[in-house]
Amino acid sequence: LYSVDLKAPESDEPPPFAFAFDIDGVLLHVAKPIPGATQTLKFLQKHNIPFILLTNGGGKHEKERVADLSARLGVKLSTDNFVQSHTPFQELAQGHNGTLRDKNILVTGSDAAKCRRIAQHYGFRNVIIPADILAAHPTVWPFDPLLEEVYAKTARPLPCPDPKIDAIFVFNDPRDWALDIQIMVDLLLSKDGVLGTYSPRNGLRDLPNAGWQRDGQPELFFSNPDLFWAAGYPHPRLGQGAFQAALAGVWREVTGGAAELERVTIGKPHGYTYGFAERVLSAHRAKMLGRDVNEDGPPKPLERVYMVGDNPASDIRGANQYVSAEGTAWESVLVRTGVWNPERGGGGPGGEPAYKPKVIVDDVKSAVEWALKQEG
Ligand code: G3P
Ligand code: MG
Repeated sequence: LYSVDLKAPESDEPPPFAFAFDIDGVLLHVAKPIPGATQTLKFLQKHNIPFILLTNGGGKHEKERVADLSARLGVKLSTDNFVQSHTPFQELAQGHNGTLRDKNILVTGSDAAKCRRIAQHYGFRNVIIPADILAAHPTVWPFDPLLEEVYAKTARPLPCPDPKIDAIFVFNDPRDWALDIQIMVDLLLSKDGVLGTYSPRNGLRDLPNAGWQRDGQPELFFSNPDLFWAAGYPHPRLGQGAFQAALAGVWREVTGGAAELERVTIGKPHGYTYGFAERVLSAHRAKMLGRDVNEDGPPKPLERVYMVGDNPASDIRGANQYVSAEGTAWESVLVRTGVWNPERGGGGPGGEPAYKPKVIVDDVKSAVEWALKQEG
């Protein structure tokens, strides 16, 4: 059993530093805890050292995923210190950013019906999934659909036969890339996002460089750019970034090379996600102090966050590039238990990672030991 021989800071007041832990490849390999992960999180909780879980994973509501993680890791976790790939999408359905709350949005992911429920929890009021479109227009996909029973069970009536769709969200890795890409391309070629139409400005052009102009098509949001991620197989697996590349490749062909796919991508390494995570971490840390960050003001400022990750292109690059509005320094710590491994090549000639971390350590326990030594 791993004994966690870490030296805890003296006082019980949360220290001016905290941790951000990636999940896949740092704490878990899919469902299996990585040795040392449970003991390390328990140590930090015992010594009042704040941390958040910051993952590009998704597909479950935060409450459900946190309950699942608590059970798998044997550590009591909360949604207060948990950010997954699509968590920031809440902001597009709430408050002054809530411009898409009442619009028709198309949502997809590994379990699109579950993603619909998550989007509704976030405050989106008109959520459509590919199964709804297939049920209303069975010939939209000319081949026998892969997930027929799932689609039949989860389809809901469309608000009208050919709705206008204002935004498309990919919440996590779709399973039926073919149907999803077909429907997304239909909408991206449409006039004003109305299913079944073609924009007269563009139409179905396959002349090289025929040119392409926006004509009211839906905005496109991806929650995670990961081309690879660390699962249970000994080598990295294709992630949501691969799905995005597939759609971008089809789109390039469909527009004769005239148009790059216009999209918004959040998730690590993007600064938007790091900024969102920092706000969650600061509020969580203030709560640990029994204070409300809005009333009593934040505790002594958070000076440093140690971002512990396994993927140089996401965790390390993001922490290295992020510029905190609060002046908090994000230090990147790369572990050897996930995507990156010198023997796999990539990065520099010696197999060093393409994005240079502050330090490379064996695993999450060594990462915390190293950080506590830095803190003296
Ligand atoms: O789909 C999950 C994968 O993209 C990476 O997750 O936890 O390593 O950020 P994580
Ligand atoms: Mg990871």
